[in-house]
Amino acid sequence: MFKKNFVWGAATASYQIEGGAYEADKGRNVWDVASATQGRIFEGHRGDVGCDHYHRFKEDVRLMKELGLKAYRFSVNWARLLPEGTGKVSEDGKRFYLELLRELKNAGIEPWMTLFHWDYPYALYQKGGWLNAESPKWFEAYAGVCAELFSPYVSHFILINEPQCFVGLGLSSGEHAPFLKLPDAEVMRAAHHVLLGCGLAEKKIRKICGSSVKIGTAQAYWPALPLTEQDVELAREETFACHKNFGSVNYYTDPLLLGHYPEDALAWQRECGFTFPESDMDIIGSKLDFYGLNTYSGDCVTRENGKTVYPQPAPTVPRTDMRWTVRPEALYYGPKFIWERYHLPIVYTENGVALTEWKDLDGKINDDSRIDFLRRYLRALSRAADEMEIDGYFYWSLIDNFEWAEGFSKKFGLIHVDYETGERTPKKSAGFYRHVIETNGEDL
Ligand code: NOJ
Repeated sequence: MFKKNFVWGAATASYQIEGGAYEADKGRNVWDVASATQGRIFEGHRGDVGCDHYHRFKEDVRLMKELGLKAYRFSVNWARLLPEGTGKVSEDGKRFYLELLRELKNAGIEPWMTLFHWDYPYALYQKGGWLNAESPKWFEAYAGVCAELFSPYVSHFILINEPQCFVGLGLSSGEHAPFLKLPDAEVMRAAHHVLLGCGLAEKKIRKICGSSVKIGTAQAYWPALPLTEQDVELAREETFACHKNFGSVNYYTDPLLLGHYPEDALAWQRECGFTFPESDMDIIGSKLDFYGLNTYSGDCVTRENGKTVYPQPAPTVPRTDMRWTVRPEALYYGPKFIWERYHLPIVYTENGVALTEWKDLDGKINDDSRIDFLRRYLRALSRAADEMEIDGYFYWSLIDNFEWAEGFSKKFGLIHVDYETGERTPKKSAGFYRHVIETNGEDL
């Protein structure tokens, strides 16, 4: 069962929905440059206009209200607010976010503001981005500006979204902007700067806002799942093993919440020759109020002949349009492992499904599989909520949007967007989600 004041929301991110890439004095970010230079994004799609939320935000807030959302998670486009990444604040950027916040307030929807959801200012990238030793201070200053300007409206700040992706995919495997394939030691340095930035930003926001806001992060979390009941401990171990890549949650949140990197990550760092002053950990160690998780699936693990194996999913296991398996139990075992390791209230800052779908001849989007997905995942989450503190759930995404290197080809929204006309059409699942919210998830 979900608690009485459970936070039911939906999420988006700035670059994925805003458009307005060349409005006023907005600065460029690494995704603007990826859109403009091409070659990396599906069929040459660009985020310049996209859902045009920058111009249509009032309509979008009205749709959120119709959906019955209690909270809305969105992100600030750093270079819209600070065109150079640091220093001068853009009046237009400030106006845009304040107007959005006022609109949400009038609609009775709680704003959860993500500070960094991957659209890194290009001006700072040209100075080395997260590799620059000054980068933690740039982030701290930006967080300070957001706290000063927006905290009268914002209830929750999410410092960063999915370091596993913007570090792992952006700087190590080269799949996301800025498409770098740096040596591991350099990626470790960038990740370390991200963590220092979070530590500084958390302290800065607390200094400005005191206890009036809650602070967390949103982690990309793809837990290992037990194939059989005997595999629970193995699944936990595997979930928290770094396997020499930047995809695990604990590579980032052990330093933030427990004050040290995981043992296997430290060994990997030593092997790569990456070192840092021990005193950094005092800056990184943070007091976060909640643990934000973004989960879409998980991989089943077991032991065969004494070896850890991840068996291929059977062909009957359903897959989404991202080719991700449908694994509702990820929303039971996933939070369980996090709760037992960190003892922080958990919020699902993202969960959802991309489907191949279109507007039918009758003008409706009959996305029954999304409803089924929601039922299955929320049932698992409800089971988890009986055993641990789960405070909220944000469906990804409010509206169809720009899915990074996949362009507009993947549709996660509760609301369909016609990218030619900008027209919004709530899908069948929007009605279902409204019912879930109205009944506090008691009719799944
Ligand atoms: C993770 C990211 O935070 C979001 O930007 C992305 O669109 C969704 N998951 C779906 O891949």
